[in-house]
Amino acid sequence: MAKPKIIAVVGTRPDAIKTAPVVRELRRFDAVETVLVSTGQHREMLAQALGAFDLAPDHDLGIMQHGQTLADMTRRVLEGLDPLLASLQPQLILAQGDTTTTFVAALASFYRRVPFGHVEAGLRTESVAEPFPEEFNRRAAALVAAQHYAPTPWAAENLLNEGHQPETVFVTGNTGIDAVRHVADQTALTWYPDWTGRVVVLTTHRRENLGAPQREIAEAALEVARAHPDVLLVVPMHRNPAVRETLVSVLGGQERVDLIEPPDYADFVKLMQRSALILTDSGGVQEEAPAFGVPVLVLRHTTERPEGVQAGAAKLVGTDKTSIVTAADELLAAKAGSRPSSPYGDGRAAQRIRYLALRELGVESPMEDMWTGFKRLSTE
Ligand code: UD1
Ligand code: UDP
Repeated sequence: MAKPKIIAVVGTRPDAIKTAPVVRELRRFDAVETVLVSTGQHREMLAQALGAFDLAPDHDLGIMQHGQTLADMTRRVLEGLDPLLASLQPQLILAQGDTTTTFVAALASFYRRVPFGHVEAGLRTESVAEPFPEEFNRRAAALVAAQHYAPTPWAAENLLNEGHQPETVFVTGNTGIDAVRHVADQTALTWYPDWTGRVVVLTTHRRENLGAPQREIAEAALEVARAHPDVLLVVPMHRNPAVRETLVSVLGGQERVDLIEPPDYADFVKLMQRSALILTDSGGVQEEAPAFGVPVLVLRHTTERPEGVQAGAAKLVGTDKTSIVTAADELLAAKAGSRPSSPYGDGRAAQRIRYLALRELGVESPMEDMWTGFKRLSTE
């Protein structure tokens, strides 16, 4: 008899980073076949992220285009995924988070009546329009999910409050924390060995920040660098041409500002560890930085990750220049050295998801003590 088949669908950099630990964990078990499908929503950044886990897609729809619109991506991913699902005939489909790839993977699973497992389920803001379009994407994915793998108890509560059945909602931790641990010590790179001062990192790419808000973010970061002569501002630039245009026009050629290509995942983790402060509108970076005790200013008006803010590891500052500069000044004046701790997971999320996903297929696998000491909602 053929083995049950699980398809993991990825498309973007965070999809790759947060799904890779699950794929690696599932592949340790011979009882199922795990197929990695890329929509190719991202190209270089996806390959780079999967590379950190020695993974490459088994199928790649290769849909990326410069200037791609949401509607166009949605159409092309659906048109590519549907025939692939028809030919591969999986028993379970997994995808993470809130990207267009994930939304369409959930929709395609629903149309083909294949159970869908949602990794990083239950994150919510109060408005379906922010972040755009991610809040819609994750709510839509939840509508059809057979299993919701919530990273935190708060995320699980959100799902229960929306009426999802308790026996489908599990607190697993965030696989992003598994990913950080996987790449720890994978690179020998030392960032800026000759710079004795501090490093401040800026990343920005959110669709709702493109244009004027992003210009204001870049201007704020420049002001921070100018006000602190011991600060080197390092800006790994997302590959979106619209993002680069703004960053280069404000920060290009400035003293103590280094605009760089997006580093490989392991190198980027090292860069976060080297930094005194991170300014970001990224979801994943917000989760990872507290694991190193590096403070984060979140360049958004709302966050679906309140745990870091509540733990005092992150502060929501929006995109207003004065707010960003004031908050950064405060943190740079404070004594360094908050203790590393992550509200987002303990590095064993992929094991929990593997156990639950296999159980969905009727395959028992070891559970060991993976819920011991871990706040759980339901496992059985
Ligand atoms: C996407 C996700 C967002 C996630 C982000 C992570 C959606 C709607 N958005 O946003 O949730 O936070 O990824 O980075 O799913 N590009 C390249 N090479 C790459 C990747 C991107 O050139 O490897 C350029 C292309 O010109 C592309 C553009 O970036 O058109 C934007 O990519 P897209 O996936 O549409 O949006 P992101 O802002 O990356
Ligand atoms: N990241 C990376 N290289 C970079 C910037 C980010 O490997 O130059 C990693 C980061 O550690 C995190 C993920 O990419 O795991 C976040 O991706 P991004 O900010 O693009 O998306 P988001 O998390 O906002 O959806």
